[in-house]
Amino acid sequence: MTRHFLRDDDLTQAEQTSILDLAVQLKADRFAAKPLAGPQTVAVIFDKSSTRTRVSFAVGIADLGGVPLIISIESSQLGGKETPADTARVLERQVAAIVWRTFAQAGLEEMAAGTTVPVVNALSDDFHPCQLLADLLTIREHRGTLAGLTVTFLGDGASNMAQSYLLAGATAGMHVRVASPAHYAPMDSVVQSAREVASRTGGSIRLYTDAQEAVADADVVVTDTWVSMGKEIEKAERVSILGNYRVDARLMGLAKADALFLHCLPADRGFEVTAEVIDGPQSVIWDEAENRLHAQKALLVWLLQQQ
Ligand code: CP
Ligand code: NVA
Repeated sequence: MTRHFLRDDDLTQAEQTSILDLAVQLKADRFAAKPLAGPQTVAVIFDKSSTRTRVSFAVGIADLGGVPLIISIESSQLGGKETPADTARVLERQVAAIVWRTFAQAGLEEMAAGTTVPVVNALSDDFHPCQLLADLLTIREHRGTLAGLTVTFLGDGASNMAQSYLLAGATAGMHVRVASPAHYAPMDSVVQSAREVASRTGGSIRLYTDAQEAVADADVVVTDTWVSMGKEIEKAERVSILGNYRVDARLMGLAKADALFLHCLPADRGFEVTAEVIDGPQSVIWDEAENRLHAQKALLVWLLQQQ
């Protein structure tokens, strides 16, 4: 049966581990797997801007022997003119997989329900699961393990990154803390799903409003923009409410002395994080950005194997 990757908990802990293991192999030997030789094409559709996701999927698909077909929403019939389900029916006869960055998670679900090829969420309003594979790979590279580590996400708890940390971290058996103002807390349904996953993997989920309490003794500290794509009109309000969650050297100092700092990028230095932290010795953001390539290649190889 066709497997899709629409949210982080679409993978079991064992499946997540095997994809990360494969990512390590592909990082060591970049052209070792050619499942798209032919070459086969993968459609990569963008309803929102991107640098990292666009480049890493384009390069990764080429590395796997295939051809990336990058489609912008403005130049396609998606976006109100044609349904995701009809689009999927057209694409599946010509491409090996569909990668889509969009707004509503429901669109991705409709796309996946209507097709026989794997559909990958390249970021939605609710989740950014490809980013989390790269983040977990990065943490594992620097710490040797994931299960049992404490990771604290600070800032917009309702963002795709915070919600993906809840699901992916729980899947990996991590202790996931999210600190946000009550107004920007994660969705209840996501917290509930994460708790169910954590109960099986030995991880845990805790929500905080106090940033200092949340970051105490953490192994990993993470933040993301306060103004996600689509929320630009709320910028002034968000900046005024989220100020206490800025990751600065003082807050970072409350985590473990060797704590890692991650940020999916793009970053707004001086807002969600100070330059001192993001450009400092604990930051692993460039490894994290590179690991998009290796993690997504492993994901595509694995999804194509399940066909
Ligand atoms: N982190 C990330 O997804 O970056 P882009 O928006 O540049 O793809
Ligand atoms: N939360 C951010 C992530 C960008 C990669 C956004 O959705 O804009």
